[in-house]
Amino acid sequence: MADKKEILLEVKDLHVSFGRGKSLFEAVKGVNFNIYKGETFGLVGESGSGKTTIGRAIIRMYPTSGGEVIFNGQKINGKISKELDKDVIHNIQMIFQDPMASLNDRAKVSDIVKEGLINVQKGLSEKEQQERVDKALLDVGLLPEFASRFPHEFSGGQRQRIGIARALIMEPSFIIADEPISALDVSIRAQVLNLLSKLQQERNLTYLFIAHDLSVMRFISDRIAVIEHGKIVELAPTEKLFAHPLHPYTQALLSAIPMPNPDLEQNKKVLVYDESVHDYSSDKPEWIEIEEEHFILANKKEASEYRERLKTL
Ligand SMILES: Nc1ncnc2c1ncn2[C@@H]1O[C@H](COP(=O)(O)OP(=O)(O)OP(=O)(O)O)[C@@H](O)[C@H]1O
Ligand SMILES: [Mg+2]
Repeated sequence: MADKKEILLEVKDLHVSFGRGKSLFEAVKGVNFNIYKGETFGLVGESGSGKTTIGRAIIRMYPTSGGEVIFNGQKINGKISKELDKDVIHNIQMIFQDPMASLNDRAKVSDIVKEGLINVQKGLSEKEQQERVDKALLDVGLLPEFASRFPHEFSGGQRQRIGIARALIMEPSFIIADEPISALDVSIRAQVLNLLSKLQQERNLTYLFIAHDLSVMRFISDRIAVIEHGKIVELAPTEKLFAHPLHPYTQALLSAIPMPNPDLEQNKKVLVYDESVHDYSSDKPEWIEIEEEHFILANKKEASEYRERLKTL
């Protein structure tokens, strides 16, 4: 990660809802975080906690119902100019979870990879398009010959590389990777992770990396935010979060990580998170910086307990 911390993306009190009236459902309930240029920011939480929704709200696939998304100093949620929209499409790209479902099986690889590009750069000649596709395929370790084939001819790992090529061809500065390896065979996960980290180094890319697996997160993230039911409960640099998680939900998630040593695995205690430990009836929770770069959702009473605990570490 870059030494000088420059903010690329700010998410401020973001709300996202689905439906309306009686069936209104708030999937994201006021989340706050910044992402620094060049870092990998991990967003982890259980299924249905709102991770994908946050990613899609940032990239404007879902409308926001409150708060702000600020990219490179400009507000990009809500109504924006055509020019800024184009800028966002270029700069922010998403890699999807399931490479089997996210690629159109009836389209040739070249059409899939260049689709976004030709939408924003109308004037490109056939030859230029072909060159850009070939380069994007080479960049992700695929042969340019593959351009004329169809997605079903490829393995899961290769298909995810096609998904990455489709993002890279736009020359983005920020990539949202939504569980990019969870659908892949364990044997090829490391290859795809290594490709993502190589690309990051070569191009100074910034990643928002979404996963529910904390052990993968530990390996690739500079900082991690833990989300539960549409609220981020804790955010800290990776080492800090693993060394002294404070929120009971984070502690429960960490306790569930499988251990490589079978003896330890057998004797470990998995914690169960019980929301009723919080008494928020009068003392309401706020988003607090409890120590440098370590944020937590806590009320005043909890915050003072957490501070006490930090002193004893
Ligand atoms: N388009 C939609 N319409 C209605 N509800 C939705 C929509 N997308 C998501 N939701 C709901 O919002 C909540 C958060 O969903 P989301 O997909 O963001 O979770 P997630 O953390 O990405 O989960 P997973 O780990 O399973 O991918 C869920 O309750 C989900 O049912
Ligand atoms: Mg998801």
